[in-house]
Amino acid sequence: MLDFKIASGRSNRVLAEKVAANLGLELSETTIRNFSDGEIWVKYEENVRGVDLFVIQSTFSPADNLLELLILLDAAKRASVRRVTAVIPYYGYARQDRKDQPRVSITAKLIANLLAVAGANRIITIDLHSSQIQGFFDIPLDHLYASPVLIKRLMKLNLDSLSVASPDVGGLKTARSYAKKLGANLILVDKRRPSHNVAEVVNVIGDVQNKNVIVVDDLIDTGSTFFSTVNALKEKGANKIFGVCVHPVFSGNAFEKLENCEALEKLYVTDTIPLQKNSDKIEVVSISEILSEAIIRTHDNRSISSLFEIER
Ligand code: R5P
Repeated sequence: MLDFKIASGRSNRVLAEKVAANLGLELSETTIRNFSDGEIWVKYEENVRGVDLFVIQSTFSPADNLLELLILLDAAKRASVRRVTAVIPYYGYARQDRKDQPRVSITAKLIANLLAVAGANRIITIDLHSSQIQGFFDIPLDHLYASPVLIKRLMKLNLDSLSVASPDVGGLKTARSYAKKLGANLILVDKRRPSHNVAEVVNVIGDVQNKNVIVVDDLIDTGSTFFSTVNALKEKGANKIFGVCVHPVFSGNAFEKLENCEALEKLYVTDTIPLQKNSDKIEVVSISEILSEAIIRTHDNRSISSLFEIER
């Protein structure tokens, strides 16, 4: 019998079930409840003593998702697992990753500390907001990318006169890797943030006129960055515009705005965060196989570098 198990929090159980099923497993039985005041209680309903345990939980808002993961890790540690790996498809609070002004927190580091204190021995995650966040952990972290499955999907579109656009400087390396794989040109959109959750395009650098363009971003939250980019590209004469984002955070009315965005042909997202509902405009490409492969290779102490390599 395999001495590894997969458990899940409640934030993205559908994905966790897929990951387990890919490996011929069922999720370990757990009970997770809220007390009347909202406090979270978890229990592993089966023996996990000496087990190599993988706990899957995305930590998008509300913060209860993060807290639930911490409590699951703590319970696993106290149940004498041999090792517990936090599998975090979407690592929330990652955007506050430096002191960009006085007297602010670096939440990406704070969360890294909390995970280690709760008992995580390893981390597996996908498309961190910035790669440097890996350095915030003193435990091993495997940083995977969704690009192999997303690029495979984009290739099926058979688009010609293709350009890939990065909506800001931070996403340039990723956009370049997409462009290289798709044989496309690169466009850089120069974005400013006049205030929180507001993005403005200042300049578009690259050849846009009559091009089919794929806008690549790690996440869409309010959609401000994405919509200002799409509008700027349309104004500059882009032909068809597609979008790719790994983490569909979609706060406020972003989902509805995306559905009604006439300039957008289609948006491709992954299932690191579950969608509120299905949409003809938004297609989900699953990263479950990437996670399953990372889990089994981690358990077997085999290399997983081929899963997280991204050509820069
Ligand atoms: C920024 O660095 C990120 O890559 C996203 O572009 C940004 O966080 C998206 O936020 P919003 O959708 O609220 O503009």
